[in-house]
Amino acid sequence: MKYAIIADVHGNMPALKLVLEDAQKHGTESYLLAGDYSIRAPWFNDVIPTLRSLPNVRAICGNEEKYLHLPKGEDAQFAICYWAASRMQPDNLAWLDSLPERMDWSENGTDFHMAHALGAFLGNEMTRLFRTSVLALRYPDRPITSERFLSDNRKLMESQPNFEEKLAALPEGIYIYGHNHAQSHMRFGNHLFLNPGSCGHPLDCMQFAACYTLLTVENGEWLVEERRIPYDPTPLIETVKQSEQYKAAPVWTNLVFLDWTTCSEHMVYFLHYAEAYANRIGDNRRPFMPDTFRAAFEEWEKAGYPLIGEEDR
Ligand SMILES: [Fe+2]
Repeated sequence: MKYAIIADVHGNMPALKLVLEDAQKHGTESYLLAGDYSIRAPWFNDVIPTLRSLPNVRAICGNEEKYLHLPKGEDAQFAICYWAASRMQPDNLAWLDSLPERMDWSENGTDFHMAHALGAFLGNEMTRLFRTSVLALRYPDRPITSERFLSDNRKLMESQPNFEEKLAALPEGIYIYGHNHAQSHMRFGNHLFLNPGSCGHPLDCMQFAACYTLLTVENGEWLVEERRIPYDPTPLIETVKQSEQYKAAPVWTNLVFLDWTTCSEHMVYFLHYAEAYANRIGDNRRPFMPDTFRAAFEEWEKAGYPLIGEEDR
């Protein structure tokens, strides 16, 4: 059985089209979807029906699905979520709301487990350890290679206290997750941890691409093929600049553009900068209001997007 594993589409329909064309060309028989389908790019009402109509599909929800239910405020900090919620078609929202947080099943003699973040299997400290924001600090010489990233991830995993014991306590099988937008897979004996990266918003400091992973399970063998389909973010950015989303959430959408052009995280760093900026001007309104959010972004832009407030540990 050949599976295409897709996560973190985040409303990016052009990226999803590239991924599905590639997956179909490679004879995919089943689709595993690991959450975060909307928010960040504006085409979620095309993305969701397309995913729902795939053959043999299993899907879980991601953490960003819950942001569609935030009570609407006047702030800019969550403006992109409010806009997505206001445009989400009811049947698409109903599908998102119906998704479980985790799935566990057996198929072809293999046990599968799927949740949005690695922490669901190995504890929340693992989600923090593999958080995306530190990658921009760790890899200033990006784009990096997949080989380097996989080797670093494996070392990081093995260096954790009591890792062997944690692994021994976990049932054998394939563990599928997303969340940090970084494509990776690590096999330790009969445990395989597999993150297909982000289809629509990659942040792994490699070349910008639509990412997903092919997994073949046959006769007890597991074969992983990480797929990256490079494409130019420039026309994508130009199209999104014409969207209602750009008008409704300009700072957030500019942050999305920065991420796309560098394949690395900026949002967390900007939020740290905005916090420092608001404190400096004596604005204690939280979430951040549009005037402060915009002014902080303009200052951060002039300063060359300094990466402050996070440590690589
Ligand atoms: Fe995500």
